[in-house]
Amino acid sequence: MTAPFDPKTYRRSLDEAAAALRRHFGPPPDFAVIFGSGLGRSFRETFTRVKARSFSDIPHLLPPHVAGHSGQIYRVSGKGKGAASALILHGRIHYYEGFAPEQVVFPVRALARWGLKRLVLTNAAGSIRERLRVGRLARIRDHLNFTGGNPLRGPNLDFLGTRFPAMDAAYENAFSARVDRLARGLKVSLPKAVYVGIAGPSYETDAEIRAFRILGGDLIGMSTVYEAIAAAHAGLQVAALSAVTNSCLRRKQALNHEEVLHNAQRVDGQLSALLRGLLEKGVA
Ligand code: HPA
Repeated sequence: MTAPFDPKTYRRSLDEAAAALRRHFGPPPDFAVIFGSGLGRSFRETFTRVKARSFSDIPHLLPPHVAGHSGQIYRVSGKGKGAASALILHGRIHYYEGFAPEQVVFPVRALARWGLKRLVLTNAAGSIRERLRVGRLARIRDHLNFTGGNPLRGPNLDFLGTRFPAMDAAYENAFSARVDRLARGLKVSLPKAVYVGIAGPSYETDAEIRAFRILGGDLIGMSTVYEAIAAAHAGLQVAALSAVTNSCLRRKQALNHEEVLHNAQRVDGQLSALLRGLLEKGVA
């Protein structure tokens, strides 16, 4: 989506993207996964024979530019009775790169137009709560939107959803409950967290960290909230998983993106195990 926001053009672009998804990958799978910074490599390595496409094969899908995002798209399936299928997207674009919120959520909406019902959003996040340790996974149960924006601002896209969508079930739904059960079965620890979404690209200040803690935030990051809002609007069930890549509480030195990517790698194996579980054991 490169054109300025015009609902008619935007709808046409979504439908063209959805048609290309159908052409390349067939009917919508049981769920899709969007891998964030530094995530997804372990999962990718568990598949030897997948035919990967790139974002540029889907019209209007903007390729990710940030380090740690490969821009591959592919479809995978588990084996056996009750197994599930998934579309995997490696990378996303961000609001801090200068994209408009409706551009950021374009992939989520294209997936919804295709007919997808469940979405796993993943991200790298900083912890502002002692119990959420670096190198672990957490599941987002709610968010605080501190980006100053909202992807639903502007004319409502009635063909996707209602003007004033509820956010109650945005992160807590049957799909997330399934992910929780699987995590317990696989002995992957999956504490719940409130994610504070900031616009970035500057990291949060110490005063912001103190304020976010008082407000009930547990993790901080620069993605996910727009996608979760757009997903709720379009009726998708989201399970959102954060790789805790750094602690904002005891900063020994200034945080940088390399540290985030390095620590994301540490969590990537757990994330891969959980997603493999979902593929093999199914979403029901
Ligand atoms: N703050 C904001 N975004 C982030 C962080 C952080 O500490 N870690 C990873 N993404």
